[in-house]
Amino acid sequence: MSLRQRFGRALRLGVIGGGPGSWIGQMHRGAAEMDGWFRVTAGVFSSDPSRSREAGIGFGLDAARCYGTVDEMLRAEKQRADGIDAVAIMTPNDTHHPYAAAALDAGLDVICDKPITITLAQAQDLAARVKSHQRLFAIAHGYSAYPMTRHARELVRHNTIGAIRLVQVEYIQFALATRVEDGPQNNRLRWLLDPQRSGLALVMSAIGCHAQHLACFVSDQRVARVAADVGALVPGRRVTDHVSALLEFEGGARGTFTVTQAAAGGENDIRLRVYGEKGLIDWSHREASYLKLALHGEPVRTIGRGDAYLPPEIIAAGRTPRGHPEGLREAFANIYAEIAQERMARALGDDLAPLPYPRIEDGVHTMAFIEACLASHASGRWAEVASAAG
Ligand SMILES: NC(=O)c1ccc[n+]([C@@H]2O[C@H](COP(=O)([O-])OP(=O)(O)OC[C@H]3O[C@@H](n4cnc5c(N)ncnc54)[C@H](O)[C@@H]3O)[C@@H](O)[C@H]2O)c1
Repeated sequence: MSLRQRFGRALRLGVIGGGPGSWIGQMHRGAAEMDGWFRVTAGVFSSDPSRSREAGIGFGLDAARCYGTVDEMLRAEKQRADGIDAVAIMTPNDTHHPYAAAALDAGLDVICDKPITITLAQAQDLAARVKSHQRLFAIAHGYSAYPMTRHARELVRHNTIGAIRLVQVEYIQFALATRVEDGPQNNRLRWLLDPQRSGLALVMSAIGCHAQHLACFVSDQRVARVAADVGALVPGRRVTDHVSALLEFEGGARGTFTVTQAAAGGENDIRLRVYGEKGLIDWSHREASYLKLALHGEPVRTIGRGDAYLPPEIIAAGRTPRGHPEGLREAFANIYAEIAQERMARALGDDLAPLPYPRIEDGVHTMAFIEACLASHASGRWAEVASAAG
């Protein structure tokens, strides 16, 4: 019998945020339920209690489990025999820490959107709570959950490209290409453009964290030091829309890191190239189902999601045959599937090989990386990235 069959039911998920109009909200809900590991059971979908309840009913939830506040949801669900097992958080960034902390304290697992917090100290606090409550914590870094980025890391681990020399990562995007701060404001822009709410260095909270995580995930190394230029490409802008940095990884590899949301004409273009002593791995979100492997002196190979020669766990991270498009929602579903499997295995006392979904330790490293970029920019020198131990 499969793990899911032996566990006997889907895990019950309480959603926090992602109300009508939030595109990431429907991504999470769809991904959580895609493979039957989770069922969206309860939720708080707005900071306005009546709008929250209305939204939950609109999403098809039991009206009794559409709550007005997070506190109300955690208290009411605790009283139920069929209460929620986990929460998924996709609210404005400054609320991630209090909601995640409250959920962990209530004995729930957490799937949190990025950035997990707005300071390193808050991230360390969550890590301590995860450990003391023995809970699971996943982060919605979808790009490292594609079958092909997963396979890229396996190629690195199997020494296919040899010792890594250079990592080039970029995330180029258009969301702040115009002076949105001068146009009509909505709730989303209000919190995004307020540094107290969106977190350290807006562009890093928005997309830089994805680029850093992907680079570290595939190269299988943390960043040790950075020399960063942090600022705005759009004249007169007070929030950060651009970071370029030189990186030094713990294994000694060097790297370049460029992220901006001020790229007029740009797309959601996250791209990673990892150069080792024997060759290159090249992955782009534009062609997420393919991976280029160029070994020095050999013809370039294009590896496709679902290719029969791939390892079974990489094939299993896709759902349709090669050539049928899959995307970010399926990548998110891999994260949900993995945290669910780990929870069910723990509950049943099974041994389970470590699964690659992004964890709290990765979130702590991301916050340390962001703080190091800011410190480097402020001092005009290289800055050390604080290690997990603090
Ligand atoms: N992983 C990704 O690729 C990705 C992509 C986009 C956004 N995000 C993250 O998702 C989060 C939300 O971003 P967004 O663009 O959807 O923002 P948004 O402002 O469009 O949506 C936020 C949603 O949260 C709800 N909300 C606000 N305060 C709340 C509260 N106190 N309780 C419950 N619900 C509340 C709002 O009603 C809204 O529906 C951010 O942390 C962002 O970084 C992640």
